[in-house]
Amino acid sequence: MTSISNTVRCETFSFREVARDGAARAGELKLTHGTVQTPIFMPVGTVGTVKAMRPDELATQVEAQIILGNTYHLYLRPGLDVVRAHGGLHTMMGWDRPILTDSGGYQVFSLKDLRKIREEGVEFQDHISGSYHLFTPEKVIEIQETLGSDIMMAFDECPPAGAEERYMRDSMARTTRWEKRCLEARTRHDCALFGIGQGGTSEQLRREHLEELAPLPFEGMAIGGLSVGEETQAMYDTVEFTTPMMPDEKPKYLMGVGKPEDLVECIARGVDMFDCVIPTRNARNGHCFTSRGVVVVRNAVHKEDLRPLDPDCDCYTCQNFSRSYLRHLLKSGEMLGPQLCTLHNLRYFLTLVGQAREAIVEGRFEAFRKRFHTLQAEGGS
Ligand code: GUN
Ligand code: ZN
Repeated sequence: MTSISNTVRCETFSFREVARDGAARAGELKLTHGTVQTPIFMPVGTVGTVKAMRPDELATQVEAQIILGNTYHLYLRPGLDVVRAHGGLHTMMGWDRPILTDSGGYQVFSLKDLRKIREEGVEFQDHISGSYHLFTPEKVIEIQETLGSDIMMAFDECPPAGAEERYMRDSMARTTRWEKRCLEARTRHDCALFGIGQGGTSEQLRREHLEELAPLPFEGMAIGGLSVGEETQAMYDTVEFTTPMMPDEKPKYLMGVGKPEDLVECIARGVDMFDCVIPTRNARNGHCFTSRGVVVVRNAVHKEDLRPLDPDCDCYTCQNFSRSYLRHLLKSGEMLGPQLCTLHNLRYFLTLVGQAREAIVEGRFEAFRKRFHTLQAEGGS
């Protein structure tokens, strides 16, 4: 069935669909460092920290079940010797729940002028010292196995939005060869490996790529190459026709997405896993997501606003502080401001996917989705 000779598979991995409501599904994902209830949102911890959050807050207050790390960043700094000396990424960063690492493909391709793509891999100059490096499929698997990721991502190219069809086809064919090399390169029996399908917003290209990748022995499959500048509706349409092309017995991960409404709309279209920098990055500028829409807590309208960010949120920030005080902290450049806003945003994202899951299990996802959009439209301020 497959042309992969390596027989190494992840023995600590399993995925089970628990319930389905329309195309939306609830699942249970077992990984080396614990169980994840899907659909799930994964906070991004690029350099080995989810910015402004302590791991104990992430676990007990945000109730994050799995976080994301980046091969590219951790390889450059602090470097593999340092991570190895700690016994892996989990021990180094004091996080004992699952970690997914991106392969570095996406990061090196965003270096644009500083990289050269060859069959062997990608040669690039890093953004820190400017030194030259070569990332190959074999190399990024070695790095992710050294980090000790629960889920490693295959090495792919994420073509820019609007790339020509000719370029897309060459790129996707190369990505397929790279992803097969990733499967051949794995040596650990406790690190899962997910494949990544590309193809932009073209149904034909998505189908062609997934016909090649779906039969391969990956533990899960991802949709790459979205949220790269296309219209929101084009992204939703692509997700809608792509998830049925992916194997139902494996988790379906939409990379780099998105805002709360994107999570709800893509869960409705069959996605199980998400990651995005939006909740953490936006929080640091006082851009907060709530059940009633966005609250820009830095704005002058909140100067004397004694309400919490979100009346429906159970987080430490909403239980203890006013919008007025949060605004003051942010305007004063106090560290607590970004910390409290990040805690809230992440808790909101995790609550949202948790509620979506509950609605799927109880067979009332459509009502949940409708109510979500109605409340969002109310506006947060
Ligand atoms: N993050 C967001 N999109 C992508 C993608 O297409 N590939 C990878 N490796 N990471 C991503
Ligand atoms: Zn809150």
